[in-house]
Amino acid sequence: MTKLILDLDTGVDDALAIAYALGSPEVELIGITGTYGNVLLEQGVRNALAITELLGHPEVKVYKGIPHSEATDGFEVLEISKFIHGNNGIGDVDIPDSAREAETEPAVDFIIDAVKTYGKDLVYVPTGPMTNIAAAIRKAPEIKDKIGKIVLMGGALTVCGNVNCCVEANISQDPDAADYLFRSGAPATMVGLDVTLQTLLTYKETQQWRDLNTKAGDFLADMTDFYIKAYETTSPHLGGCGLHDPLAVGVAVDPTLVTTLPINLQVDVEGPTRGRTIGDNTRLNDPVKTMQAAVGVDVPRFLNEFMTRITGLARN
Ligand code: BDR
Ligand code: CA
Repeated sequence: MTKLILDLDTGVDDALAIAYALGSPEVELIGITGTYGNVLLEQGVRNALAITELLGHPEVKVYKGIPHSEATDGFEVLEISKFIHGNNGIGDVDIPDSAREAETEPAVDFIIDAVKTYGKDLVYVPTGPMTNIAAAIRKAPEIKDKIGKIVLMGGALTVCGNVNCCVEANISQDPDAADYLFRSGAPATMVGLDVTLQTLLTYKETQQWRDLNTKAGDFLADMTDFYIKAYETTSPHLGGCGLHDPLAVGVAVDPTLVTTLPINLQVDVEGPTRGRTIGDNTRLNDPVKTMQAAVGVDVPRFLNEFMTRITGLARN
């Protein structure tokens, strides 16, 4: 069975990504590695522990990652992130803390060990900055050839960014790490805004979770309603909230949900476009393409999978 690692800056859509993974019998979630972005590292780890517990999976281990990019001395959560995900990252919904703690093994070492143990059976899904996976490849370069694949949420190839005209939020946090990953030769699929802004959720669906009358259903509905409300202010034209991170998990479980363009990508690391994901023109004619960029998505099929899996999980 495919083994999955989620690398999360556990905000609202990251939490939905956890639920999607736990509701997918095709994969085993062997660990969550924490990163920073929507929240500080510590809060993200706390959220991941609490959410796995609430969703009935206290066996999922959580590992602390690197708290900020190499290019900075620290990290502060942006006001826009607090507006979209709440001060606690999960829509300001109060859920009990888990009695469990994060594992003592650092996330980077866990990733390296997992690749060595599971090899091609391992799929790694980063839905925050690429800081942890870049550090893991730097420390143990051989893992890039051994890993099954990386399905990352981040970037934008054919559409505008969400931080500025050309930069997406996850890549913006650590463009250097993303560029390192993209050029490393590791097999990676980029699930960017090209597709994730097509997969939208509305109050109609969250009401189905509320109607379950379970703790998990209430949590998912309350948290996601906060996120939908924020999208009503920031992106009213969309008519729902973007299911960014769950789509990356969806593609990890079933790659046929998207159509992809084989392309060797890079990230602008300098100048006003720092953080832009773009074709690497030095490798455009290279017959070997190590990356795929998702450019099309079967929206009805994904939404059906999303609701079926998460509702099934939250029913119990
Ligand atoms: C990405 O940025 C974060 O705010 C979300 O969790 C998602 O991973 C979308 O650009
Ligand atoms: Ca995220």
